[in-house]
Amino acid sequence: MKRAEFDQWARQQLDAVEAALDRWVPENAPAGLGLAMRYGVLDGGKRVRPLLVLAAAQAVGGQHEAALRAACAVELIHAYSLIHDDMPCMDNDVLRRGKPTVHVQFGEAQAMLAGDAMQALAFEILTPDEGVPPALQARLCALLARAAGHDGMAGGQAIDLASIGLPLDEHTLRDMHHRKTGALLQASVLMGAACGTTTPPQWQALSDFGDAVGLAFQVVDDILDVTQASETLGKTAGKDLHNNKPTYVTVLGLDAARRHAAELRDKAQAALARSGLTHAAWLSLLADKVVDRDN
Ligand code: IPE
Ligand code: IPE
Ligand code: MG
Ligand code: MG
Ligand code: MG
Repeated sequence: MKRAEFDQWARQQLDAVEAALDRWVPENAPAGLGLAMRYGVLDGGKRVRPLLVLAAAQAVGGQHEAALRAACAVELIHAYSLIHDDMPCMDNDVLRRGKPTVHVQFGEAQAMLAGDAMQALAFEILTPDEGVPPALQARLCALLARAAGHDGMAGGQAIDLASIGLPLDEHTLRDMHHRKTGALLQASVLMGAACGTTTPPQWQALSDFGDAVGLAFQVVDDILDVTQASETLGKTAGKDLHNNKPTYVTVLGLDAARRHAAELRDKAQAALARSGLTHAAWLSLLADKVVDRDN
């Protein structure tokens, strides 16, 4: 029952996110740039980050317009990070979300610029002339900027590329994963929470929840890279080994990586329980789905 209700809620939310992205990502940007941007973000992906934003907003009675904007902004930053992640100078991948990667389809320069423009568009979406109070706009921008930048995703990606072929210890690996992937998932939860009202202990609990879910997400991504086929993933399987990347599978082994993902899920659920929020069922289900998934 809960699952069916969740699926219905998620479908409604994602329809709204898809429609908003379709409206906000311009088709007519100069010299075909809009086509590359739309190709990179529309109609694809699991949309885990937007769902986390919207579930967190729902848990705290958050303002819908702000939460929808935050959901789209996070997805734009994420989709831009994927476009750049796939480029030949990074992971050099040709398949993403079941389609040729943006640089394969549009060329490297256009892929780089599409990512650049999507990053800027994310912040434009967070700062409308009306509909979201200025203080909330600033808060959402700060949370997203911190998670996307040198101390978050971009910094983590730099560590990732600097770690090729290195036998990382678990501490360093965790730090890399927390930055490159965890930070944006944690920010998704916190941006949703910022749209409503929380006590400081509730904010901390949601931050701990996002932290655990975010790390779990990349641990599972590492596992799926070795256990699933490209057709299931919509991206090239076995890529980490091929690129000589240290991952939770290479550092801990597959079984221990699986156990660790389950531990992180339990940690996330414990943090959520600590929040005392009574409308957090969708956040809880999302934490389960992050760990129990096949793509
Ligand atoms: C893939 O993210 C890259 C990571 C940060 C692990 P997702 O697994 O969320 O990719 P999409 O959005 O569903 O395509
Ligand atoms: C990606 O990590 C993290 C990002 C910030 C995009 P991966 O390189 O493992 O992601 P996939 O497996 O290509 O989706
Ligand atoms: Mg990568
Ligand atoms: Mg990659
Ligand atoms: Mg991966």
